[in-house]
Amino acid sequence: MPSTDFAPSLSGQAFLSGPRSSSPNQNIVPLTAQANAQGRLEVGGCEVSKLVERFGSPLYIMDEATLRQACQQYRETLKRSYPGDSQVIYASKALSCLSLCAVVASEGLGFDVVSGGELYTTLQALQQMGLTPAEAAAKIYFHGNNKSVQELEEAIAAGCTIIVDNWLELETLAQLGSQGLTEPIRIMLRLTPGIECHTHEYIRTGHLDSKFGFDPNQIEAVFTTVSQHPQLHCIGLHAHIGSQIFERQPHQDLGAILVEWFAKGLNQGLPLSELNIGGGLGICYTEQDDPPSIEEWCHAAAQAVVKACEARQLALPKLIVEPGRSLVGTAGITAYTVGSRKIVPEIRTYIAVDGGMSDNPRPITYQSRYRALLANRLAEPCTETVTLAGKHCESGDILISDLNLPTAQAGDILVVLATGAYNYSMSSNYNRLPRPAAVLVHDGEANLILRRETYADLIRQDCLPARLIS
Ligand code: LLP
Repeated sequence: MPSTDFAPSLSGQAFLSGPRSSSPNQNIVPLTAQANAQGRLEVGGCEVSKLVERFGSPLYIMDEATLRQACQQYRETLKRSYPGDSQVIYASKALSCLSLCAVVASEGLGFDVVSGGELYTTLQALQQMGLTPAEAAAKIYFHGNNKSVQELEEAIAAGCTIIVDNWLELETLAQLGSQGLTEPIRIMLRLTPGIECHTHEYIRTGHLDSKFGFDPNQIEAVFTTVSQHPQLHCIGLHAHIGSQIFERQPHQDLGAILVEWFAKGLNQGLPLSELNIGGGLGICYTEQDDPPSIEEWCHAAAQAVVKACEARQLALPKLIVEPGRSLVGTAGITAYTVGSRKIVPEIRTYIAVDGGMSDNPRPITYQSRYRALLANRLAEPCTETVTLAGKHCESGDILISDLNLPTAQAGDILVVLATGAYNYSMSSNYNRLPRPAAVLVHDGEANLILRRETYADLIRQDCLPARLIS
């Protein structure tokens, strides 16, 4: 059982007034989070309890300032630390919707998509922003270890860069490319670098026993095959080693390994010009988490690539990084309404909220830990330790174990922090709960970015054959 971190007497207000880093991923709360004069939580200049009154509960709230700051820090640090060309692309799996794409694109970032659905969402957003198909295509990189033929055709039609993951995909693309396309297909190759990093087993991808990417033993054969297909224009190499990483060394090692392979590819005649070192920088969910800042991480990774290129006298490739969590994670919070309470004498007190594993599957999937505050009672000291339960018919639907709070009453607004990444995007309708709405807050304004699902939405895909009701 996790230990208790909040000093029992510490109020939410005291917690909020603690030191803040300018790097969003090093804080648990959004940059604009503060207690107002009534002792209530405000984010983006909007009072959370009022947002819940207006938009309903549960509610995902995204702070635009935090998101923009993270985008800017990635972009500007790479520009400063890397003398070659560079590009930050947003791993949209963390949260893919039109408005997020619009904010991220307006900060000059590109996109990593991993499915036809993410590609469609991103293209729609960019088109609505007025980008031409060619401008949109230049921003998008399509990943995935088992893209369907239809998805590959969609990616080719869109003209985006396809990150080839395996032999079947290479063969399929070579075949699709020989069917009268006017342009060669722009591809990159995903390699498995064999780098171990300390993160949850499910979110580690760069070790050799991973379902992603070509095995390093096969690199030369892959390069040879690619060079035999002029319809495949291979512009670069890619690797992603995992997620929620707190060390800098793995990405430095990765930079060096990728440069070595890059040199090999050039020697074999491939027209390589881009190097993508993936994402993976961690964020703070609790006080125990201690990630480097965005600047520290970018600088370390960029320098590793520069050093490795200098050692081989290679011209600097375009350096691509593709963070997800560290761009949107800290920008997001989830507001719930407190409901029932169950006291199991001498064991624990459960407090239940009106959501749970359907809007945040991370605790039950990865045993992830979170912090929470009573948004409408920040000035009150914590008086009890509770177990925060969701409302699903599943005993494991626990959002936070051992959470210190003021004595919560039904109707209080409870906010779980750092839920911007992999919460909405991994949400479900388990128990037929409609997905919550999401709002984007900025300078006192709140805009709906994802509508709350209705009961009608829940049966939209249902079919009822006539013979069952006649
Ligand atoms: N690039 C590739 C190829 C990836 O697979 C991922 C994440 C990223 C970039 C972005 O990684 P980030 O910067 O967000 O760490 N659902 C899990 C995380 C899975 C990450 C999957 N790949 C979670 O909730 O922790």
